[in-house]
Amino acid sequence: MKILVVGGGGREHAIIKKLKENKEVNTVFALPGNGGIAKDATCVPIGACEIEKIVEFSKKENIDYAVIAPDDPLVLGLVDALEEVNIPCFGPNKNAAIIEGSKVFSKNLMKKYNIPTASYEVFCDMEKALEFLDTAPIPTVIKADGLALGKGVTIAFTREEAKKAVKEAMEDKKFGKSGDNIVIEEFLEGPEVSVLAFTDGTCVKPMVSSMDHKRSGDNDTGLNTGGMGTVAPNPYYTDEIAKICMDTIFMPTINAMNKEGRTFKGCLYFGLMLTKNGPKVIEYNCRFGDPETQVVLPLLESDLLTAMMATTNGTLKDTEIKIKKGNACCVIMASDGYPVSYKKGFEITIPESINDSVYVAGAALKEGKLLTSGGRVLGVTSIDDTLEGAIKKSYEKVKTISFENAYYRNDIGQRALKADGGK
Ligand code: AMP
Ligand code: GLY
Repeated sequence: MKILVVGGGGREHAIIKKLKENKEVNTVFALPGNGGIAKDATCVPIGACEIEKIVEFSKKENIDYAVIAPDDPLVLGLVDALEEVNIPCFGPNKNAAIIEGSKVFSKNLMKKYNIPTASYEVFCDMEKALEFLDTAPIPTVIKADGLALGKGVTIAFTREEAKKAVKEAMEDKKFGKSGDNIVIEEFLEGPEVSVLAFTDGTCVKPMVSSMDHKRSGDNDTGLNTGGMGTVAPNPYYTDEIAKICMDTIFMPTINAMNKEGRTFKGCLYFGLMLTKNGPKVIEYNCRFGDPETQVVLPLLESDLLTAMMATTNGTLKDTEIKIKKGNACCVIMASDGYPVSYKKGFEITIPESINDSVYVAGAALKEGKLLTSGGRVLGVTSIDDTLEGAIKKSYEKVKTISFENAYYRNDIGQRALKADGGK
């Protein structure tokens, strides 16, 4: 089979490596891929949002199945465009990807269908938002409506901070049109859990739960990033909580999307907070998470391509999704200075013996050398019977990889190790 994977980060590398475990997969194209992915797929320099070029390329190459990994092409309607030329895809149609593409949409959906989430108000008028903030409970959370490269959320601990965030979004247009509307919501507290689930629009089958580490510094200090490391399973996510989530969040969301005429198929990512009043939705993503995928897929026992195609064909009910026993830990190695500014172009050396554990995110090939080209450079994943073992193995491997200006957190997984059953 000829498979196309759209995207070019660590998540896409993890997807490609897992897809290639299926013997039917003989060609994988990555659009655009990256210098590290080039070891495992044919990279083609077409951007993930160049819809017409992707369609043209897919027709020319007779692609059998296309996996659309990032949020923006999904929100732009790449799946619809490929389906129009009869290329089956993994991922939601445009009218369902809105669940990530618009926070106003997802909050209103949850309210309409009684899906637990933080209480909120929507504003399209800046003066009204500022007036609301004069009396809103503090801390409060300001969210730009549209996609904002993961930077559209501000947790404000003072009224001044909250007002500044509103002005930056609505007056200074920091996020462009994404900030035309904003959501101001209740500040929730509790452990966070990411659950990635396959769905064909009828049934939903979650993969192993995971925990992201979003802040740039140790002990959750510093700026928010795309994610500096992950562990799976998430120890706070007990079987009891999983059942509550299935009954009050996962199935109700799938049903709600159907009722709205926006059937969702692909991978639905539930960003949850386990509050003292029960699990609540912090965000939905219409895709695999990054770097959650780098721990979730290595723990997937079942064949990935079969599971993906079942979401497309509506046969997920009859497809077993088996999870391996054990724990996984992924440590992200970044360029020092990320997520603000950083130097790039440094040569990366990775011992051949650990290649299977490495997912490359920001690297380019130049004259046969792998050079850093992004903020998050690569992720190193290990599996072990214990979480402690997985963490130890990953850090041992990290120490064997070198590039100038490398930065990583030293405490990935420590919070999970201390977790005591959700208390
Ligand atoms: P998001 O981009 O929606 O994932 O938000 C980024 C991060 O902000 C989340 O992972 C949470 O840690 C935090 N966050 C978002 N919404 C809330 C909320 N209502 N209360 C507390 N923290 C939140
Ligand atoms: N790791 C969070 C995300 O993929 O959005």
